[in-house]
Amino acid sequence: MLWPATLGLLLTSTLASPLYSRQTSTLPAPGTRGPAPKSEWIAVYEAAKGAGKIPTFVSAKLSGAGNPYYPPGVDTGENGVCSWSAAACFGDDDISDAPDGMYGVSFDDGPLPSSPALYQFLQKQNQTATHFFIGTNIVNNPDVFRQALASNAHIGVHTWSHPYMTTLNDTQILGELGWTVQAIHDLSGGLIPKFWRPPYGDADNRVRAIAKEVFNLTLVGWNRDSDDWCLNESGGSSCGSYGPKSTDDLENELRSWVVGGASPGIIGLEHELTSKSVGGFVNTYAGLKQHGWDARCIPDLFNLSWYLNSATNGQPIKSGVSIGAGLSSFPPTSSSIFEPTSTTSSPSASLVLTSPVAAVESISQAVQHIASSATSYLAFSPFSVPLAFVLAAGLLA
Ligand SMILES: *[C@@H]1O[C@H](CO)[C@@H](O)[C@H](O)[C@H]1NC(C)=O
Ligand SMILES: *[C@@H]1O[C@H](CO)[C@@H](O)[C@H](O)[C@H]1NC(C)=O
Ligand SMILES: *[C@@H]1O[C@H](CO)[C@@H](O)[C@H](O)[C@H]1NC(C)=O
Ligand SMILES: *[C@@H]1O[C@H](CO)[C@@H](O)[C@H](O)[C@H]1NC(C)=O
Ligand SMILES: *[C@@H]1O[C@H](CO)[C@@H](O)[C@H](O)[C@H]1NC(C)=O
Ligand SMILES: [Zn+2]
Repeated sequence: MLWPATLGLLLTSTLASPLYSRQTSTLPAPGTRGPAPKSEWIAVYEAAKGAGKIPTFVSAKLSGAGNPYYPPGVDTGENGVCSWSAAACFGDDDISDAPDGMYGVSFDDGPLPSSPALYQFLQKQNQTATHFFIGTNIVNNPDVFRQALASNAHIGVHTWSHPYMTTLNDTQILGELGWTVQAIHDLSGGLIPKFWRPPYGDADNRVRAIAKEVFNLTLVGWNRDSDDWCLNESGGSSCGSYGPKSTDDLENELRSWVVGGASPGIIGLEHELTSKSVGGFVNTYAGLKQHGWDARCIPDLFNLSWYLNSATNGQPIKSGVSIGAGLSSFPPTSSSIFEPTSTTSSPSASLVLTSPVAAVESISQAVQHIASSATSYLAFSPFSVPLAFVLAAGLLA
């Protein structure tokens, strides 16, 4: 978990390059709270709402101490709004436990300058993990995002601006989720995420329903919380009376998990926020393996695909899956298959046209081919004649 003040610092710490801004001109500005959603996501939301799939709850408010709360009389438990923050209530489809003997490895809040050391370690260990990324951090650190993919990180959604989601209205929730999905899609060569984790774990059945009915996202919680985000870069604590006070405290906490019972398995909450939180995982990983845990990224715990349109990274991308098309109760909108990543800017001389692809069936191959290059970028025409462009090497660096 992460305190808003800490996040604000992170969000403003890295400037996006002007080149990058041009390529992603359709994405919201970093840090925008509840960015305005695309009209097609709103249309799908309204159809789902009309079909009775999304409940009408009052938004929570944030107390002075930073806890979401509802008006008096609201049932926060499983027969009511089912708030995780107020009542530790999980939704029926939420993931929070791993199968017996298994350890779900996940990190929140990247991609950040502290992340590459983690990616290198995981890759060296041949260890996959799920990384719940903040859209704002993706646009601020596109190179780190590409390093994550190149190291075979599994990528999930952690919202655009890291709000308490239950405090937002439905439109803002659409924007927080949709634009993060869009950023991951645009920078990965077309992957559409399938899993999300709410900041602070904060969700209720209204938030869950919007994520599921519009974006087909499955919520991933946790059953162990390291509070590793409390440690600042100097190894001191920003959490006052709770959480680890030192790197030793953090490592002792992580070691205590793996010597405990194996049923249910563990899904730990850890962060790629600072070198200290990364170091906690790295320094205790050998013990985790020694105790016989079968450690995997979240979908691999359950034999699920990593993305809505691809089995894992580097596999063919299934055509016909679009962002925010909703569950099957209504037809997909006309803008279909792949959203153009940049509708307003025409290809410049620095873009090298490699292969105009005529048949829709060929899209996945083209994407597959292009996604394998760390410096590649895709642009599709809005009129379903997809054009694949590869940036000259180094252009995005
Ligand atoms: C890495 O893990 C995968 C999946 O478990 C396995 O197929 C592969 O052989 C491993 N590679 C190495 C170098 O250990
Ligand atoms: C949600 O809040 C935003 C920002 O205040 C506002 O622009 C939008 O109209 C609201 N949407 C609804 C459905 O109330
Ligand atoms: C880190 O935390 C310690 C203990 O709370 C504090 O004294 C120190 O100023 C903090 N350092 C930074 C860089 O925030
Ligand atoms: C995943 O597949 C393996 C091998 O087929 C099987 O042993 C395991 O029970 C499956 N796990 C789940 C959660 O379905
Ligand atoms: C939603 O995702 C599941 C996989 O998680 C997939 O089987 C299903 O077809 C998707 N539904 C739609 C309408 O895309
Ligand atoms: Zn977070």
